Amino acid sequence: MIDLDNRINREGFSMNNSGNLEFDRCEIIKLAQKYKTPCYVFSETIIRKKCRQYVNAFSGRNVTFEMLYAGKAFLVKAMCNILKEEGFSLDVSSGGELYTALSAGFPPDKIFFHGNNKSKAEIEFALKEKIGTMMVDSEYELDLIDQIAESLNTKVGIILRVAPGIDTHTHKYIQTGQVDSKFGISIDRAPDFMKKVLSKEHISYNGLHFHLGSQIFVLSSYVLAIKEMVKLMRKIKDLWGIDTTNFNLGGGLGVKYLESDLPPSIEDFVNLIADNVENEIRKNNLIMPKILIEPGRSIVAEAGITLYTIGNIKEIPGIRKYLIVDGGMTDNPRPILYEAKYEAVLVNKINNNLPEEVVTIAGKCCESGDILIKDLKLPSASPGDLLVVFTTGAYHYSMSSNYNLLPRPAVVLVNQGKDDLIVKRETYADIVRNDTVPEWFK
Ligand code: LLP
Repeated sequence: MIDLDNRINREGFSMNNSGNLEFDRCEIIKLAQKYKTPCYVFSETIIRKKCRQYVNAFSGRNVTFEMLYAGKAFLVKAMCNILKEEGFSLDVSSGGELYTALSAGFPPDKIFFHGNNKSKAEIEFALKEKIGTMMVDSEYELDLIDQIAESLNTKVGIILRVAPGIDTHTHKYIQTGQVDSKFGISIDRAPDFMKKVLSKEHISYNGLHFHLGSQIFVLSSYVLAIKEMVKLMRKIKDLWGIDTTNFNLGGGLGVKYLESDLPPSIEDFVNLIADNVENEIRKNNLIMPKILIEPGRSIVAEAGITLYTIGNIKEIPGIRKYLIVDGGMTDNPRPILYEAKYEAVLVNKINNNLPEEVVTIAGKCCESGDILIKDLKLPSASPGDLLVVFTTGAYHYSMSSNYNLLPRPAVVLVNQGKDDLIVKRETYADIVRNDTVPEWFK
């Protein structure tokens, strides 16, 4: 087990002169008093820092690049504002994400529309709003986009999503680039598929894309994928005489959930990508494309924390002690979905030299599997204690639910001592806002 100092040795955390734990210079206890729990807190400083780490790493290389952020990790209007200011483009994967971005005034030409089954309505919405690039996932979608573009009398830039047939070392639910995947066009079919792309009057070919998976620590799969994808570019050039001018390598870089996690740095990731794309392009005698990447998790995961209050404590002597919090799988479905592991501290007991014990943090949902952290070492806890769980910025709010009709938590943005709401806590009225009662009950 790790000692206390190591536990709070995380980005954005500090201890003020009164011995209170702060996140981005905001006292966590005060945030909990002001915004109540459960509550997500995001550090604007960390989000911007991660964005700049990517941009600076690419700027240090002699390559043209475009940084996208994958909205599925966490997208709200305030996040769109940050991305806009940081000069990022945006990957959206649904009409809802597109709507959020547009309502925040995000420039449509910097939006890339992903998804493996975009509806006709979503495609129409995107084309009418003149978004920059449609990512094409299948032949079905290519035809649909072409037809809709024709009906709107427009021409659309597309990037083809290819499944490169490469396995990654990550949870099987978050692998996407392997042969047996529902995403993208299989790499061996892609050269022929290009014939179809080029025959479409309302479509212009802007490049290729692959995405291997998420929470990746072993970067060698990118090396393999780049090799295969550049070979594909060469085939496309030989068969159809077309250069591939944009090469999108997806997202996937892993982050630190546990103190013992050691993900590659953003700089190492970018350098590995730039080195390998340059080498393969040179070997295949092709023109260097623009490099695009679309990370989500590595921008926001460590920028987010969740605050919970401990309520019921159940001890089963000799077996387990459960500390039950006021949230659970509704605000963090990752443990039950992927057996994801987390660490946490008791904020109000951070300085007490109370003896520690091993406990299990459980949620309040009606599911035995609603366990947030198994076997965590904490000082002896009592009802009312404040628990902060680290690294909950990516795929938490965006995957939250209303199971048991629990209202979704508030989301707060903090920045160097300032704090403000970016998403209000849901109310009971919000919970029933879409319910309607059939005439015959009235
Ligand atoms: N691009 C595409 C096409 C993607 O499908 C994804 C993630 C990304 C980029 C961003 O990947 P990232 O940099 O965040 O790893 N809910 C799961 C993760 C699902 C990822 C889906 N696609 C989780 O909580 O672990």
